[in-house]
Amino acid sequence: MANFKFDIRSIFTQPVVKISSNMLPHTFRGDRRMSLDISSKVSEIIDHLGELSAVAQKLTKPVTSAQKLRSSENQTVYLMADVNEYDSNVVIGLLKIGTKNLYLFDSIGQTRKVDKVPCILDFYIHDSRQRTGIGKKLFDIMLSEESWIPVKCAVDRPSEKLLNFLKKYYGLENIIPQANKFVLYKGFFDEDGAANRD
Ligand code: COA
Repeated sequence: MANFKFDIRSIFTQPVVKISSNMLPHTFRGDRRMSLDISSKVSEIIDHLGELSAVAQKLTKPVTSAQKLRSSENQTVYLMADVNEYDSNVVIGLLKIGTKNLYLFDSIGQTRKVDKVPCILDFYIHDSRQRTGIGKKLFDIMLSEESWIPVKCAVDRPSEKLLNFLKKYYGLENIIPQANKFVLYKGFFDEDGAANRD
């Protein structure tokens, strides 16, 4: 379980918070002293969950760390906690998203430069809580907050688990092959819809 020495309730005033490069929850209100304290705790949480995610995906180093997030203007980390009276120090999920300008192949193999592509960059639910619907809850919160549609997202090096997840909940299965590490699905490009109807 992702436990911490400090009380996470100062960060999680609600079960899901959004963190951007300032390392503060979007809900944060406070003075400079408080912001230093909270941002250092948030950094610890992000580093820890980032490491757990890397281990779960058998990566040699984490995709998500506080240092990386600090230097990325277009990225957001969603953190989810189990905040209740008895179990108040448990962080259970991390979802990192952002926008990127990418060179992509469309459905007929033509190269296109697409700016500000919505990207799923890292996703982790604590091992002890996987396959209980928490990932879906966190992903849906992100989609609603960002006003994103799954088929319009590029997914950075998805694991088998994530490929299954996207297929099960969002019907994503027809991949448009890419030369880079991103996975795109038919429907990403506007004309895919027209092609599918033929
Ligand atoms: N094997 C195959 N599919 C799996 C799976 C597993 N071990 N774990 C989750 N899934 C997929 C399946 O579609 C599953 O549905 P099913 O149980 O009916 O087969 C569905 O996800 C479950 O949904 P939910 O409970 O909402 O997902 P979750 O809370 O487990 O979160 C992940 C999904 C991928 C974030 C989570 O499994 C995880 O953290 N995995 C390890 C890290 C990882 O692979 N991250 C992806 C980054 S590329």
